[in-house]
Amino acid sequence: MSEQRRRHKSKQAITPGEFLFTEDDFHQIAALIKEVAGIHLVAAKAPLVYSRLAKRLRAIKLTTFAEYCALVASEEGVEERGHMLNALTTNVTRFFREPHHFEMLKTRTLPPLLAQAKQGARIRLWSSACSTGEEPYSMALTILSVLPDAASYDIKILATDIDQNVIAKAKRGVYAASNVEAAPVDLRNKYFSKADASGTELVVDDRVKSLITFRPLSLTKPWPVKGPFDAIFCRNVVIYFDRETQQALWRKFADVLSPDGWLFIGHSERITGVAQDSFASEGFTAFRKLSAADARKIA
Ligand SMILES: C[S@@+](CC[C@H](N)C(=O)[O-])C[C@H]1O[C@@H](n2cnc3c(N)ncnc32)[C@H](O)[C@@H]1O
Repeated sequence: MSEQRRRHKSKQAITPGEFLFTEDDFHQIAALIKEVAGIHLVAAKAPLVYSRLAKRLRAIKLTTFAEYCALVASEEGVEERGHMLNALTTNVTRFFREPHHFEMLKTRTLPPLLAQAKQGARIRLWSSACSTGEEPYSMALTILSVLPDAASYDIKILATDIDQNVIAKAKRGVYAASNVEAAPVDLRNKYFSKADASGTELVVDDRVKSLITFRPLSLTKPWPVKGPFDAIFCRNVVIYFDRETQQALWRKFADVLSPDGWLFIGHSERITGVAQDSFASEGFTAFRKLSAADARKIA
Protein backbone atom coordinates (compact mmCIF):
# COMPACT_ATOMS: atom_id res chain seq x y z
CA MET A 1 0.00 0.00 0.00
CA SER A 2 1.39 3.42 -0.91
CA GLU A 3 2.30 5.78 1.93
CA GLN A 4 -0.36 8.25 0.72
CA ARG A 5 -3.08 5.57 0.75
CA ARG A 6 -1.97 4.35 4.13
CA ARG A 7 -2.17 7.87 5.54
CA HIS A 8 -5.59 8.40 3.98
CA LYS A 9 -6.86 5.08 5.37
CA SER A 10 -5.55 5.79 8.86
CA LYS A 11 -7.67 8.96 8.94
CA GLN A 12 -10.92 7.17 8.06
CA ALA A 13 -13.45 6.09 10.68
CA ILE A 14 -12.94 2.44 11.64
CA THR A 15 -15.99 2.28 13.89
CA PRO A 16 -19.06 4.23 12.80
CA GLY A 17 -20.62 6.43 15.44
CA GLU A 18 -20.97 9.81 17.05
CA PHE A 19 -17.19 10.45 17.32
CA LEU A 20 -14.52 10.11 14.62
CA PHE A 21 -12.38 7.08 15.59
CA THR A 22 -9.55 6.24 13.18
CA GLU A 23 -6.97 3.50 12.93
CA ASP A 24 -4.35 5.99 14.17
CA ASP A 25 -6.48 6.72 17.25
CA PHE A 26 -6.85 3.01 17.93
CA HIS A 27 -3.08 2.43 17.64
CA GLN A 28 -2.33 5.30 20.00
CA ILE A 29 -4.77 4.04 22.61
CA ALA A 30 -3.53 0.46 22.22
CA ALA A 31 0.09 1.59 22.68
CA LEU A 32 -0.77 3.58 25.79
CA ILE A 33 -2.75 0.79 27.45
CA LYS A 34 0.06 -1.66 26.67
CA GLU A 35 2.53 0.72 28.29
CA VAL A 36 0.43 1.36 31.40
CA ALA A 37 -1.16 -2.03 32.00
CA GLY A 38 0.49 -4.57 29.71
CA ILE A 39 -2.91 -5.10 28.08
CA HIS A 40 -2.66 -6.24 24.46
CA LEU A 41 -5.52 -4.86 22.36
CA VAL A 42 -5.92 -6.58 19.01
CA ALA A 43 -7.57 -4.75 16.09
CA ALA A 44 -10.80 -6.73 16.59
CA LYS A 45 -11.25 -4.88 19.90
CA ALA A 46 -11.66 -1.51 18.16
CA PRO A 47 -15.49 -1.46 18.50
CA LEU A 48 -15.15 -2.30 22.20
CA VAL A 49 -12.59 0.49 22.69
CA TYR A 50 -14.94 2.86 20.88
CA SER A 51 -18.01 1.99 22.93
CA ARG A 52 -16.21 2.11 26.27
CA LEU A 53 -14.38 5.38 25.58
CA ALA A 54 -17.25 7.17 23.81
CA LYS A 55 -18.76 7.59 27.29
CA ARG A 56 -15.58 9.34 28.41
CA LEU A 57 -15.60 11.67 25.39
CA ARG A 58 -19.20 12.58 26.18
CA ALA A 59 -18.40 13.10 29.86
CA ILE A 60 -15.54 15.51 29.18
CA LYS A 61 -17.20 17.05 26.12
CA LEU A 62 -14.66 16.18 23.42
CA THR A 63 -15.75 15.70 19.85
CA THR A 64 -13.10 13.41 18.31
CA PHE A 65 -10.86 10.57 19.45
CA ALA A 66 -7.88 12.53 18.11
CA GLU A 67 -8.54 15.13 20.85
CA TYR A 68 -8.94 12.35 23.38
CA CYS A 69 -5.62 10.76 22.34
CA ALA A 70 -3.87 14.12 22.64
CA LEU A 71 -5.31 14.56 26.13
CA VAL A 72 -4.35 11.13 27.48
CA ALA A 73 -0.85 11.46 26.03
CA SER A 74 -0.29 14.83 27.71
CA GLU A 75 0.91 15.67 31.22
CA GLU A 76 -2.49 17.18 32.09
CA GLY A 77 -4.11 13.92 31.00
CA VAL A 78 -2.97 11.96 34.05
CA GLU A 79 -6.45 11.79 35.59
CA GLU A 80 -8.08 10.90 32.27
CA ARG A 81 -5.49 8.14 31.74
CA GLY A 82 -6.85 6.60 34.94
CA HIS A 83 -10.42 6.82 33.61
CA MET A 84 -9.30 5.32 30.31
CA LEU A 85 -7.65 2.42 32.08
CA ASN A 86 -10.70 1.83 34.25
CA ALA A 87 -12.96 1.93 31.20
CA LEU A 88 -10.86 -0.55 29.24
CA THR A 89 -10.23 -3.16 31.93
CA THR A 90 -12.67 -6.02 32.40
CA ASN A 91 -13.57 -6.45 36.04
CA VAL A 92 -15.92 -9.46 35.91
CA THR A 93 -15.55 -11.58 39.03
CA ARG A 94 -17.64 -13.61 41.47
CA PHE A 95 -17.51 -14.95 45.00
CA PHE A 96 -15.94 -18.43 44.99
CA ARG A 97 -15.37 -18.23 41.23
CA GLU A 98 -13.75 -21.48 40.01
CA PRO A 99 -14.71 -23.20 43.27
CA HIS A 100 -12.16 -26.02 42.91
CA HIS A 101 -9.43 -23.51 43.83
CA PHE A 102 -11.11 -22.72 47.14
CA GLU A 103 -11.60 -26.42 47.82
CA MET A 104 -7.89 -26.99 47.21
CA LEU A 105 -7.00 -23.96 49.32
CA LYS A 106 -9.08 -25.37 52.17
CA THR A 107 -8.04 -29.01 51.98
CA ARG A 108 -4.43 -28.89 50.76
CA THR A 109 -2.87 -25.42 50.88
CA LEU A 110 -4.10 -24.14 54.21
CA PRO A 111 -3.77 -27.08 56.66
CA PRO A 112 0.06 -27.06 56.84
CA LEU A 113 0.20 -23.27 56.63
CA LEU A 114 -2.29 -22.74 59.43
CA ALA A 115 -0.45 -25.28 61.59
CA GLN A 116 2.69 -23.16 61.07
CA ALA A 117 0.75 -19.96 61.81
CA LYS A 118 -0.27 -21.45 65.16
CA GLN A 119 3.45 -21.87 65.88
CA GLY A 120 3.99 -18.17 65.16
CA ALA A 121 4.88 -18.30 61.44
CA ARG A 122 4.04 -15.50 59.03
CA ILE A 123 1.56 -16.58 56.36
CA ARG A 124 0.99 -14.43 53.28
CA LEU A 125 -1.46 -14.88 50.42
CA TRP A 126 -1.83 -12.59 47.42
CA SER A 127 -4.85 -11.93 45.23
CA SER A 128 -2.98 -10.18 42.45
CA ALA A 129 -5.84 -8.94 40.21
CA CYS A 130 -8.52 -8.72 42.86
CA SER A 131 -11.06 -6.61 40.96
CA THR A 132 -13.98 -5.64 43.25
CA GLY A 133 -12.84 -7.92 46.07
CA GLU A 134 -14.88 -11.09 45.67
CA GLU A 135 -11.71 -13.17 45.19
CA PRO A 136 -9.74 -12.03 48.27
CA TYR A 137 -12.91 -12.12 50.40
CA SER A 138 -13.49 -15.71 49.22
CA MET A 139 -9.90 -16.52 50.23
CA ALA A 140 -10.41 -14.91 53.65
CA LEU A 141 -13.73 -16.73 54.15
CA THR A 142 -12.02 -20.01 53.29
CA ILE A 143 -9.37 -19.31 55.94
CA LEU A 144 -12.05 -18.41 58.51
CA SER A 145 -13.98 -21.59 57.70
CA VAL A 146 -11.07 -23.62 59.08
CA LEU A 147 -9.59 -21.11 61.54
CA PRO A 148 -12.28 -18.77 62.91
CA ASP A 149 -9.74 -16.88 65.05
CA ALA A 150 -7.38 -16.33 62.09
CA ALA A 151 -7.06 -12.65 63.03
CA SER A 152 -5.14 -13.68 66.17
CA TYR A 153 -2.29 -15.00 64.03
CA ASP A 154 0.13 -13.44 61.55
CA ILE A 155 -2.01 -14.27 58.52
CA LYS A 156 -2.62 -11.66 55.84
CA ILE A 157 -3.95 -11.47 52.32
CA LEU A 158 -2.60 -8.78 50.03
CA ALA A 159 -5.22 -7.81 47.43
CA THR A 160 -4.11 -5.66 44.52
CA ASP A 161 -5.43 -4.40 41.20
CA ILE A 162 -4.38 -1.75 38.71
CA ASP A 163 -7.86 -0.17 38.71
CA GLN A 164 -8.37 2.30 41.57
CA ASN A 165 -12.18 2.21 41.24
CA VAL A 166 -12.42 -1.51 41.88
CA ILE A 167 -10.03 -1.22 44.82
CA ALA A 168 -12.31 1.43 46.37
CA LYS A 169 -15.34 -0.83 45.91
CA ALA A 170 -13.47 -3.82 47.29
CA LYS A 171 -12.50 -1.88 50.43
CA ARG A 172 -16.13 -0.95 51.07
CA GLY A 173 -17.10 -4.62 50.93
CA VAL A 174 -20.73 -3.96 50.00
CA TYR A 175 -22.33 -6.38 47.52
CA ALA A 176 -25.75 -7.16 46.07
CA ALA A 177 -27.25 -9.91 48.21
CA SER A 178 -27.82 -11.97 45.06
CA ASN A 179 -24.04 -11.93 44.35
CA VAL A 180 -23.21 -13.20 47.82
CA GLU A 181 -25.37 -16.29 47.25
CA ALA A 182 -22.36 -18.02 45.69
CA ALA A 183 -20.72 -18.13 49.15
CA PRO A 184 -21.44 -21.19 51.34
CA VAL A 185 -24.55 -20.50 53.39
CA ASP A 186 -22.88 -20.91 56.82
CA LEU A 187 -20.18 -18.35 55.90
CA ARG A 188 -22.78 -16.04 54.41
CA ASN A 189 -24.83 -16.07 57.58
CA LYS A 190 -21.81 -15.63 59.83
CA TYR A 191 -19.78 -13.00 57.99
CA PHE A 192 -22.24 -10.76 56.11
CA SER A 193 -24.90 -8.40 57.42
CA LYS A 194 -27.53 -6.23 55.78
CA ALA A 195 -26.13 -2.92 54.52
CA ASP A 196 -29.54 -1.30 55.14
CA ALA A 197 -33.10 -2.25 56.12
CA SER A 198 -34.01 -3.40 52.60
CA GLY A 199 -31.47 -6.23 52.70
CA THR A 200 -30.74 -5.92 48.97
CA GLU A 201 -27.09 -5.27 49.77
CA LEU A 202 -24.85 -7.07 52.24
CA VAL A 203 -21.68 -5.84 53.88
CA VAL A 204 -18.65 -7.97 54.69
CA ASP A 205 -17.87 -8.29 58.38
CA ASP A 206 -14.75 -6.64 59.87
CA ARG A 207 -13.43 -10.08 60.90
CA VAL A 208 -13.04 -10.82 57.18
CA LYS A 209 -11.88 -7.35 56.16
CA SER A 210 -9.19 -7.29 58.84
CA LEU A 211 -7.36 -10.16 57.12
CA ILE A 212 -6.97 -8.22 53.88
CA THR A 213 -4.87 -5.24 52.78
CA PHE A 214 -6.06 -3.64 49.54
CA ARG A 215 -3.55 -1.72 47.41
CA PRO A 216 -3.28 -0.50 43.80
CA LEU A 217 -0.57 -2.36 41.89
CA SER A 218 0.16 -2.98 38.22
CA LEU A 219 1.40 -6.47 37.51
CA THR A 220 3.39 -5.20 34.57
CA LYS A 221 5.33 -2.51 36.45
CA PRO A 222 7.98 -3.05 39.15
CA TRP A 223 6.27 -4.48 42.25
CA PRO A 224 6.56 -2.77 45.62
CA VAL A 225 6.22 -6.24 47.23
CA LYS A 226 8.84 -8.88 47.83
CA GLY A 227 6.99 -11.74 49.41
CA PRO A 228 7.55 -14.48 50.10
CA PHE A 229 3.95 -15.52 49.47
CA ASP A 230 2.61 -18.91 50.41
CA ALA A 231 -0.10 -18.76 47.77
CA ILE A 232 -0.83 -16.43 44.87
CA PHE A 233 -4.08 -16.12 42.96
CA CYS A 234 -3.51 -14.63 39.51
CA ARG A 235 -6.72 -15.48 37.75
CA ASN A 236 -8.36 -14.21 34.59
CA VAL A 237 -5.99 -11.34 34.00
CA VAL A 238 -3.01 -12.65 32.00
CA ILE A 239 -5.39 -13.50 29.13
CA TYR A 240 -5.28 -9.75 28.40
CA PHE A 241 -1.47 -9.74 28.12
CA ASP A 242 0.70 -10.86 25.23
CA ARG A 243 2.72 -14.05 25.55
CA GLU A 244 5.99 -12.30 26.40
CA THR A 245 4.34 -10.31 29.21
CA GLN A 246 2.68 -13.48 30.53
CA GLN A 247 5.95 -15.38 30.59
CA ALA A 248 7.77 -12.58 32.39
CA LEU A 249 4.98 -12.58 34.96
CA TRP A 250 5.12 -16.33 35.65
CA ARG A 251 8.84 -15.94 36.36
CA LYS A 252 8.24 -13.05 38.73
CA PHE A 253 5.60 -15.07 40.59
CA ALA A 254 8.04 -17.96 40.95
CA ASP A 255 10.55 -15.49 42.43
CA VAL A 256 8.19 -14.19 45.13
CA LEU A 257 6.64 -17.55 46.07
CA SER A 258 7.95 -19.36 49.10
CA PRO A 259 9.39 -22.87 48.56
CA ASP A 260 6.39 -25.13 47.78
CA GLY A 261 4.19 -22.02 47.41
CA TRP A 262 0.97 -22.31 45.43
CA LEU A 263 -0.09 -20.51 42.27
CA PHE A 264 -3.70 -20.50 41.08
CA ILE A 265 -4.44 -19.25 37.57
CA GLY A 266 -7.60 -18.70 35.51
CA HIS A 267 -9.43 -21.50 33.68
CA SER A 268 -8.29 -20.38 30.21
CA GLU A 269 -4.72 -19.53 31.21
CA ARG A 270 -1.56 -21.63 30.91
CA ILE A 271 1.96 -21.29 32.27
CA THR A 272 4.36 -21.11 29.33
CA GLY A 273 8.02 -20.26 28.87
CA VAL A 274 10.95 -20.92 31.17
CA ALA A 275 8.81 -20.64 34.31
CA GLN A 276 7.18 -23.95 33.36
CA ASP A 277 10.23 -25.62 34.92
CA SER A 278 9.59 -23.84 38.21
CA PHE A 279 6.10 -25.26 38.77
CA ALA A 280 4.52 -28.67 39.22
CA SER A 281 0.85 -29.12 38.35
CA GLU A 282 -1.43 -29.91 41.28
CA GLY A 283 -4.60 -30.31 39.24
CA PHE A 284 -6.48 -28.07 36.88
CA THR A 285 -4.90 -24.56 36.89
CA ALA A 286 -3.27 -25.09 40.30
CA PHE A 287 0.50 -25.28 40.68
CA ARG A 288 3.21 -25.55 43.30
CA LYS A 289 6.60 -23.99 43.07
CA LEU A 290 9.31 -26.61 42.71
CA SER A 291 12.41 -26.32 44.83
CA ALA A 292 15.59 -25.72 42.78
CA ALA A 293 16.65 -29.35 43.50
CA ASP A 294 13.30 -30.75 42.29
CA ALA A 295 13.45 -28.61 39.16
CA ARG A 296 16.96 -29.98 38.42
CA LYS A 297 15.79 -33.58 38.95
CA ILE A 298 12.90 -33.12 36.50
CA ALA A 299 15.14 -31.46 33.92
C1 LIG B 1 -11.53 -10.28 34.92
S1 LIG B 1 -10.92 -9.51 36.38
C2 LIG B 1 -10.43 -10.94 37.32
C3 LIG B 1 -10.78 -10.82 38.80
C4 LIG B 1 -10.47 -12.05 39.62
N1 LIG B 1 -9.06 -12.36 39.63
C5 LIG B 1 -11.25 -13.24 39.14
O1 LIG B 1 -10.68 -14.16 38.54
O2 LIG B 1 -12.47 -13.27 39.36
C6 LIG B 1 -9.36 -8.87 35.80
C7 LIG B 1 -8.77 -7.79 36.68
O3 LIG B 1 -7.42 -7.56 36.30
C8 LIG B 1 -7.13 -6.20 36.48
N2 LIG B 1 -5.94 -5.85 35.70
C9 LIG B 1 -5.82 -5.66 34.35
N3 LIG B 1 -4.55 -5.34 34.04
C10 LIG B 1 -3.85 -5.35 35.20
C11 LIG B 1 -2.48 -5.12 35.52
N4 LIG B 1 -1.57 -4.80 34.60
N5 LIG B 1 -2.11 -5.21 36.82
C12 LIG B 1 -3.01 -5.53 37.78
N6 LIG B 1 -4.32 -5.76 37.53
C13 LIG B 1 -4.73 -5.68 36.25
C14 LIG B 1 -8.40 -5.50 36.02
O4 LIG B 1 -8.48 -4.19 36.55
C15 LIG B 1 -9.48 -6.45 36.56
O5 LIG B 1 -9.96 -6.03 37.81
